[in-house]
Amino acid sequence: MAKMEVKTSLLDNMIGVGDMVLLEPLNEETFINNLKKRFDHNEIYTYIGSVVVSVNPYRSLPIYSPEKVEDYRNRNFYELSPHIFALSDEAYRSLRDQDKDQCILITGESGAGKTEASKLVMSYVAAVCGKGAEVNQVKEQLLQSNPVLEAFGNAKTVRNDNSSRFGKYMDIEFDFKGDPLGGVISNYLLEKSRVVKQPRGERNFHVFYQLLSGASEELLNKLKLERDFSRYNYLSLDSARVNGVDDAANFRTVRNAMQIVGFMDHEAESVLEVVAAVLKLGNIEFKPESRVNGLDESKIKDKNELKEICELTGIDQSVLERAFSFRTVEAKQEKVSTTLNVAQAYYARDALAKNLYSRLFSWLVNRINESIKAQTKVRKKVMGVLDIYGFEIFENADNSFEQFIINYCNEKLQQIFIELTLKEEQEEYIREDIEWTHIDYFNNAIICDLIENNTNGILAMLDEECLRPGTVTDETFLEKLNQVCATHQHFESRMSKCSRFLNDTSLPHSCFRIQHYAGKVLYQVEGFVDKNNDLLYRDLSQAMWKAGHTLIKSLFPEGNPAKINLKRPPTAGSQFKASVATLMKNLQTKNPNYIRCIKPNDKKAAHIFNEALVCHQIRYLGLLENVRVRRAGYAFRQAYEPCLERYKMLCKQTWPHWKGLARAGVEVLFNELEIPVEEYSFGRSKIFIRNPRTLFKLEDLRKQRLEDLATLIQKIYRGWKCRTHFLLMRKSQIVIAAWYRRYAQQKRYQQIKSSALVIQSYIRGWKARKILRELKHQKRCEEAATTIAAYWHGTQARRELSRLKEEARNKHAIAVIWAYWLGSKVRREYRKFFRANAGKKIYEFTIQRIVQKYFLEMKTKMPSLSPIDKNWPSRPYLFLDSTHKELKRIFHLWRCKKYRDQFTDQKKLIYEEKLEASELFKDKKALYPSSVGQPFQGAYLEINKNPKYKKLKDAIEEKIIIAEVVNKINRANGKSTSRIFLLTNNNLLLADQKSGQIKSEVPLVDVTKVSMSSQNDGFFAIHLKEGSEAASKGDFLFSSDHLIEMATKLYRTTLSQTQQKLNIEISDEFLVQFRQDKVCVKFIQGSQKNGSVPTCKRKNNRLLEVAVP
Ligand SMILES: Nc1ncnc2c1ncn2[C@@H]1O[C@H](COP(=O)(O)OP(=O)(O)OP(=O)(O)O)[C@@H](O)[C@H]1O
Ligand SMILES: [Mg+2]
Repeated sequence: MAKMEVKTSLLDNMIGVGDMVLLEPLNEETFINNLKKRFDHNEIYTYIGSVVVSVNPYRSLPIYSPEKVEDYRNRNFYELSPHIFALSDEAYRSLRDQDKDQCILITGESGAGKTEASKLVMSYVAAVCGKGAEVNQVKEQLLQSNPVLEAFGNAKTVRNDNSSRFGKYMDIEFDFKGDPLGGVISNYLLEKSRVVKQPRGERNFHVFYQLLSGASEELLNKLKLERDFSRYNYLSLDSARVNGVDDAANFRTVRNAMQIVGFMDHEAESVLEVVAAVLKLGNIEFKPESRVNGLDESKIKDKNELKEICELTGIDQSVLERAFSFRTVEAKQEKVSTTLNVAQAYYARDALAKNLYSRLFSWLVNRINESIKAQTKVRKKVMGVLDIYGFEIFENADNSFEQFIINYCNEKLQQIFIELTLKEEQEEYIREDIEWTHIDYFNNAIICDLIENNTNGILAMLDEECLRPGTVTDETFLEKLNQVCATHQHFESRMSKCSRFLNDTSLPHSCFRIQHYAGKVLYQVEGFVDKNNDLLYRDLSQAMWKAGHTLIKSLFPEGNPAKINLKRPPTAGSQFKASVATLMKNLQTKNPNYIRCIKPNDKKAAHIFNEALVCHQIRYLGLLENVRVRRAGYAFRQAYEPCLERYKMLCKQTWPHWKGLARAGVEVLFNELEIPVEEYSFGRSKIFIRNPRTLFKLEDLRKQRLEDLATLIQKIYRGWKCRTHFLLMRKSQIVIAAWYRRYAQQKRYQQIKSSALVIQSYIRGWKARKILRELKHQKRCEEAATTIAAYWHGTQARRELSRLKEEARNKHAIAVIWAYWLGSKVRREYRKFFRANAGKKIYEFTIQRIVQKYFLEMKTKMPSLSPIDKNWPSRPYLFLDSTHKELKRIFHLWRCKKYRDQFTDQKKLIYEEKLEASELFKDKKALYPSSVGQPFQGAYLEINKNPKYKKLKDAIEEKIIIAEVVNKINRANGKSTSRIFLLTNNNLLLADQKSGQIKSEVPLVDVTKVSMSSQNDGFFAIHLKEGSEAASKGDFLFSSDHLIEMATKLYRTTLSQTQQKLNIEISDEFLVQFRQDKVCVKFIQGSQKNGSVPTCKRKNNRLLEVAVP
């Protein structure tokens, strides 16, 4: 979402006034009060037009966060409350967008916050300018140059724990897009006297303490140093440690920063070696030694320290030792060598230390410049930041040469400030087409002239004195001043020719006073000449040049004998003057931005605002003067658009929207408000307001109107809110009511519905009951009617019945009477005939009826049709006994016939045979019953099928009736042999069972008899006709399982062939003709031990005994 553009103004929520130009009335008191009021509310920044006045808060405020950077980024200067970021942003945008080189001049006394302010400006610019790896590296190098320079150039002083003891001007260079390319740093006037001596409560430069605290043991050994401040004369001990400062950590920060800036390791080491050498120089002490010629001479007390210095710096010890003892003066090709007394030796030592250190510092600055210089040759846009000591005024004429020079610099800065501010004002007036009114202001050019004038300026006088042959002292210099400057308005001296100061006791004799633009400063003349000379004996610079240490060698180029220059080096004063002139030239080409720093108290404490101290600073910074210049013409100016935007609510025509040009709108507005015409002027793009009063009137009106508007808005808003709320409530109420009604109606409907149903059901029930009742009544009526009718009909029927009965009885009676009568009549007539025939007829009829009944009953009682069924119903009447038996017989015959009719011819034959057998053997032979169940098969041996009997079969042509294997009983021993027994129509054949060979053949006519026992055995004998051919071998005695069948078939075949009945003898003893002998075969009841088979045994020649079990 795009950030909402809120139009704000510096004038919003102001504490006091944000811009001193608007202060009414303007005087010192109101100025200080305004500053104090703002300071008490943590508003440390206040504007004087485009100048930022900054009061050191001595505590960290949450006003430098990245969010704040964003707030101030791309905003107009007067849009937000005063801030250093607003100035930085303005300068940066003007540089980037309008191609105007910028300089930011930061001034103020020691501890007022100049260095912090310069860092804030740099960090803001770094935050808002371009990004990217390369750009970031440049930024980092620029920012990291600060810790390095601060370590070497800052020190703890009574006024400031991190006081910059040098002036610094840094040009930051940008490309056309506003991305940083690099920078150039210039340093001014390092306070080198601090190296050898520090005022009470102050310290030497930070780097000495950082080195001794933070260096590793190894590094310290290398540098031949000890971690003990008290070992070094140049280090003041009373405030060696500063509260809240960690020297060791800072040492690491510095080393790191050096690395980032681009120092090589060996370079950093060389630098530290020089620092160590300076420290150790302080430890060289001298003792007096009288020489023969009476001249004082000095001697180094302990040469050990000297030796170490020489080892460290690679200087020949004897050379250095000599340089500390002699001074060679060359004049007109003559070299004169004089000895140095102890005081001179100490002076030489300190001069060497100071020079070594200050030259090292300049080298550092150059080295940093080398690293951070822009790498391209393209045209650069430049932003210069000047952090230089402000006006210094010490009490009790403690101001010396340094203060003089510093104040001169500030005087120059004030001059260019006035020039540039006025120029800017004038330019703006011309731009805006406003008539330029002359501004009366104090021009300090006269003071600058007093100091820098080439012929009779104080610096020129000093140089003249220094160069003058003969005895030159500070007093002679003062005398000279007294002569030359006596009439100058701003120069004051007791001894000047100007008699007005003769009795001024506040002016000591050895002093002179200059009336600077910021106030009068009393300078103590002592030391001016020396400090201006800044003398380093040539012997020492030559000794240094001879050093093996490349860095030290390069620091003293004048020591090179080849480049010996008899001309004196430029004095400190003239050097400074020249560099200030260059600086001023530089600044004049740029658009200036001022930050005036103010120190609120001497205690470095937060929340304390010492009005006297602040008043003093305001005076010498010329801030009131500043305001006056700024509002000489018009106190306030503003572009038409924001002006109209801010005040349009004060006039009906412009509120809420003005359709025309902004300028016309402002005109209408101002006319409407009746602002006197002399109070304002219309520029091209801005309205100029002469007095702050007018602006505040406008502001008051606006405030009033805003309150009214707020009330109005509030009113409308509240009305709207209430109405919205009401409408919402109403809507909700309607919805709720609708829902409730619906619900209530639903409920009511349900109730009515259920009541209706109940009523309905009651009514229906009632109706149904009514109908039921009616129906029941109707039914009962009908039933009653039916019953009555039934009764009636019954009565009628009974009546009729009884009538009919009566009638029938009457008729019957008549018939009976008639029948009786007729009967008696018939009987009377028939009596005679009946008596003769009736008995016989009744008897026949009865018999007939009984027989008829008998037959009908028999029909139902008939037994089954099985011929063997013996049942027969019993006889009912005795007189029917014979009939009954006859009927039984007939029935049996009939059913036998029926049974027989079912037989086939074959079966008939079998039954005939069976019947034959029964006639022959039934009740005669015990074996018979067991044969009844056996079917008579005849051909048990199938000789047709067996190939071994083929011959036998072929021999027989007739039909075979029996083919069976029988046992032929051996006549000799009663044992048996198997023989095939064949019966054909005419013959009886015996054949061997194995071979089928015919053993005997007997024609049936030769068979006379068959004998067998009555017992249950299969023995039988076939008796042959005596004399026949077959009988020659005698009769046959066989045993067979099918005796009954064989005997029957033999009997039948014989009968059919011979028409003679074969004699079958059944007896338990019979004779059998064996050849000539007759043997009796006797059947006896045998024991069971021989099994169930009858056994045959020959008892003797006449007896064959067969035991039948
Ligand atoms: N804006 C600030 N916010 C918080 N503290 C500040 C601010 N400005 C200055 N200080 C505090 O004041 C001290 C002195 O500030 P600084 O070193 O900038 O003074 P200076 O004007 O540079 O002094 P000198 O002339 O001695 O170098 C800082 O160390 C810091 O503690
Ligand atoms: Mg500083």
